[in-house]
Amino acid sequence: MKKLLVTGGAGFIGANFVHYWMEKYQADKIVVLDALTYAGNIANLDNVKYEGNFTFVHGDICDQAFVEKILVEHKIDTLVHFAAESHVDRSITGPDAFIETNIMGTYSLLKAAKKVWLDGDTVVEEHRFHHVSTDEVYGTLSPTDPAFTEDTAYAPNSPYSASKAASDHLVRAYHHTYGLNVTTSNCSNNYGPFHFPEKLIPLVITNILHDKALPIYGDGQQIRDWLYVEDHAYGIDLVLQNGRIGENYNIGGNNEWANIDIVKRISKLVEQEFVKNTGLATRFPLAKAAIEQNTDSLITYVKDRPGHDRRYAIDATKTNNELGYMPKESFDTGIAKTVQWYLNNEAWWQSVMDGSYQNWIAEQYS
Ligand code: NAD
Ligand code: TYD
Repeated sequence: MKKLLVTGGAGFIGANFVHYWMEKYQADKIVVLDALTYAGNIANLDNVKYEGNFTFVHGDICDQAFVEKILVEHKIDTLVHFAAESHVDRSITGPDAFIETNIMGTYSLLKAAKKVWLDGDTVVEEHRFHHVSTDEVYGTLSPTDPAFTEDTAYAPNSPYSASKAASDHLVRAYHHTYGLNVTTSNCSNNYGPFHFPEKLIPLVITNILHDKALPIYGDGQQIRDWLYVEDHAYGIDLVLQNGRIGENYNIGGNNEWANIDIVKRISKLVEQEFVKNTGLATRFPLAKAAIEQNTDSLITYVKDRPGHDRRYAIDATKTNNELGYMPKESFDTGIAKTVQWYLNNEAWWQSVMDGSYQNWIAEQYS
């Protein structure tokens, strides 16, 4: 039985990971530590909130003493670190929070883990610090370059990816120098339920329903390798079970899409849903699909993101061969489920977009 501390467990991937884990390993204990920034939403954990083996703690990973207290009080043996500032566009306009949370926050967690697991009176032999990172640390690829492997040199281009790269290096150093049992996974772009609607896929779905423009940065030919979020949780699970200490594992979907093509694909899917379910036109009367017009007309080319990486692609051969990893969801099934989830969970995305859940948080934690 494991006792997990999941940082950032109220965010997109962290919450999906908690749902995945609690369903699969029902005897395990999970503590979520989350600062509930604009991207963290306690409602993402609604179904697990009242389970006996689940605890939510509101707090900041930069508070080392607080993290140490959690590790000791809950006898944590496995730390899965998702907490981060995660949006590239925000990192361009305001890098400070990325340096603070992604670099200093990870450093604070490493110090706390070392102190409690390695430097105390009793060494906790069976411990694991798993760091969740991104393929963006490897930089950008041309259309013909081979996909990123774990041996690709780090070449981060945005303040976001640079802050993640720095944290990856700190994690590696804590293993090499102090013997902390670490693993790191570098994953490609995720999509699925609870994805904050500032990111491309949920932004497109929700904008279509509100009849708002679908902004395409630059020429829209940038390529991302999309993975259904539950397959990321599954990959982390395999790394936690059988990953070698001190190693990095790439997790990806082998599913490259140009941005413009994915936007057109989603537009078609939403249109088809309106044909299948006539009630949608009543719920979303502004949507072009409600009046049988072509949704593609919302596509609007806008100024490119500064320093925009052209292509990401993951080669997950090592994770496939060593851990038997293979995504379970195809893009067809994953994107259909995702569109369906946003259609069925309007209250969730409306509340995260208008910030009303932040008022709820303020009430709970004032
Ligand atoms: P997210 O922005 O949706 O969630 C981040 C969570 O961290 C939020 O709940 C937020 O409240 C919390 N948080 C932020 N600062 C904190 C702090 N100082 N203390 C405690 N909690 C804090 O992010 P996400 O998309 O779920 O990404 C999770 C992790 O996965 C990140 O480390 C990210 O770099 C990595 N990742 C993301 C993707 C992707 O496609 N989204 C792909 C690969 C890797
Ligand atoms: P995003 O979801 O922000 O993820 P990341 O930048 O980490 O890959 O963006 C995915 C791609 O979509 C990226 O190439 C930027 C592009 N994009 C747009 O063209 N328009 C948008 O409104 C957004 C949010 C992203």
